[in-house]
Amino acid sequence: MNKIKDLKWGVTTAAYQTEGAYDKDEKGLSIWDTFTQKSHKIKDRSNARIATDFYHRFEEDIDLAVDIGLQIFRFSISWSRIFPEGVGVVNPKGIKFYDKVINYCLKVGIEPWVTTYHWDLPQKLQDKGGWTNRDVINWYSGYVTVLRDHFADRVKHWVLINEGIVCVGAGYFLGVHAPGKRGIRNFVSSTHHLLLAQAEGFKILKERTGLQVGTAISCTKIEPYRNTTADHKAAIRIDTLMNRLFIEPHLGLGYPDNDFPVLKRISKYYKKGDIEALKTDFDFWGIQTYAREVVKAAWYIPYLGAIQVKPKKRNVKTSVMGWETYPEGAQYFLERFAKYNPKKALWLSECGMALSKKEDDQIRIEYYQKIIEGMKTVLDKNINLKGILLWTLVDNFEWAEGYIPKFGIISLDRKTMQRQMKKSAFWLKKYLSNIKL
Ligand code: NOJ
Repeated sequence: MNKIKDLKWGVTTAAYQTEGAYDKDEKGLSIWDTFTQKSHKIKDRSNARIATDFYHRFEEDIDLAVDIGLQIFRFSISWSRIFPEGVGVVNPKGIKFYDKVINYCLKVGIEPWVTTYHWDLPQKLQDKGGWTNRDVINWYSGYVTVLRDHFADRVKHWVLINEGIVCVGAGYFLGVHAPGKRGIRNFVSSTHHLLLAQAEGFKILKERTGLQVGTAISCTKIEPYRNTTADHKAAIRIDTLMNRLFIEPHLGLGYPDNDFPVLKRISKYYKKGDIEALKTDFDFWGIQTYAREVVKAAWYIPYLGAIQVKPKKRNVKTSVMGWETYPEGAQYFLERFAKYNPKKALWLSECGMALSKKEDDQIRIEYYQKIIEGMKTVLDKNINLKGILLWTLVDNFEWAEGYIPKFGIISLDRKTMQRQMKKSAFWLKKYLSNIKL
């Protein structure tokens, strides 16, 4: 079993949050390009037309990652760069861009990992219903086939869909993320299609030998507010939704609709053989965790029957994201997922801390120290943890929160586009060079 010094370290980034060049080289628009046109949806009324300009500065960013001593660079591919129309004709300039990123990683000795989907669906596909349209399974399969045929000779680790629950929950239920849809029907249909698409994507990639193909699961620690039956039940419902819905169907356990009966509505979208088709033996599970949420029963909240008790009300520090940062979640979820299958390779494929512009970066160092403590504990328990990917390298566009939260270990001056290593980057560099000794 692994020891702490054997773990691999890397970073995770995502196309829409970093690339910019939103309409360059024949790229089509994505739902996030469209969503951010309604500027009131974004806290600082910003968008990611330029973002961190990774499109033009990827070499500099990858060099920085290497300089810090990181071994893995995980980035996502923008579907509408590859297929401006979502399907049909491949854009050679899109392929060329990712070829350059991958080749540069290999040249400077950092392993490229690809996420196939990090929330930026081509707008053309959204116009046909997006994830609510069952055809999305074919659209996604076509896209993944092209990615495999172009990049799988050099990319060995693949993450299929990043944080399904956030994609569907924020985008198709609450309407706070692109494409801004709401309601239970949008939610249940897109959940089912996204999981089926992911299962198909797995099969397509596994047609090639030698690939490690996994998924990235958003995990939020959920606790009841009061020690009452009603609050406990509320916590179970929310936990089921947030932490089980996007893994258990793949494990062959079906939808966890006993613990959250609203999910029974998904069955309206079942076709023969679907439940079987969902079963997917991923090569690894990526655990992504940031926060703890405390909930109490609230009969007046449709479907959920629960409401969040804000950190302030609990006398707990609120991060600039509005949530309680919870590094203890890493250990908790690694142990919890290992119970599903102790042999499965686990990665902490995202974790990180949002700070405001004014907060001292020392706080981030302390956060990562706690994460390391958690990882040591799980390794002592023989849990099959392989490594950790930090969120994130350079401060970037944090979706509906705009550029306000700073998750990077490197800061960005958005006027000059200059990158500067923060205290946490220097700390990490030192930590990584010492641990290898
Ligand atoms: C997880 C998401 O994958 C990423 O896009 C986001 O920026 C971080 N959480 C922080 O909220």
